[in-house]
Amino acid sequence: MIIAIDGPAASGKSTVARAVARRLGFRYLDTGAMYRAVAAEAVRLGMPLEDAALMTTLAETTSVRFSYAEGDPIPAGVLVGSRDVTTEIRTPAVDAAVSLVARIPGVRHAMVPQQREFALGSDIVVEGRDIGTVVFPDAAVKVYLTATPEERARRRFGDREAAGHEAEIAAVAADIAHRDRIDSTRAASPLATADDAHVIDTTGLTVDAVVELIAALAAEVGA
Ligand code: DC
Repeated sequence: MIIAIDGPAASGKSTVARAVARRLGFRYLDTGAMYRAVAAEAVRLGMPLEDAALMTTLAETTSVRFSYAEGDPIPAGVLVGSRDVTTEIRTPAVDAAVSLVARIPGVRHAMVPQQREFALGSDIVVEGRDIGTVVFPDAAVKVYLTATPEERARRRFGDREAAGHEAEIAAVAADIAHRDRIDSTRAASPLATADDAHVIDTTGLTVDAVVELIAALAAEVGA
């Protein structure tokens, strides 16, 4: 069974998707981490992000893998080749680059088959922007997570502070809004709510409450 979780930046997808996977004993795929890994390579190599052909080649030739702690099916980190990029893909530089890279059709074309292959035949929670609409349109459960822009900025601001980055909350809100605009208006697989997705507004809800809601949806279809 596939549980697809889509939604805008900082809507709580990763926290919730991981918790749902743990709760149900499912695997977990963070597709945003894959786009982030390609963007991190482009930033590291000083490549022009608007060069679609170059970014496509980079996506096609960058080996993105996940690393695991022993005995845990939920990935602990992200690797590009043998290099650990777990921290690097969450930096402000990659935040700023990733939407520009992810909107390039050739980049998506390189990533989507890898995502389908990763999930093949397993019970898995997959999170992203186009999972219920494009990558797994037949997913058993589709969830679109959202929250008010203020709540999302507060959450992301907290993340950044925890990671040692200084950021003003207004700048964080502007950054999130900018990323959402690019993700929602791009021609290739834009962020959109699938017709059959369950929309959950997480504003003011605890992680546990959201996990309960999704577990109940999964139980309805037999998980
Ligand atoms: O979920 P995230 O913030 O880690 O995603 C990083 C970027 O990757 C986001 O700006 C949009 C893009 N993305 C995408 O285009 N399609 C996906 N399935 C997942 C992420």
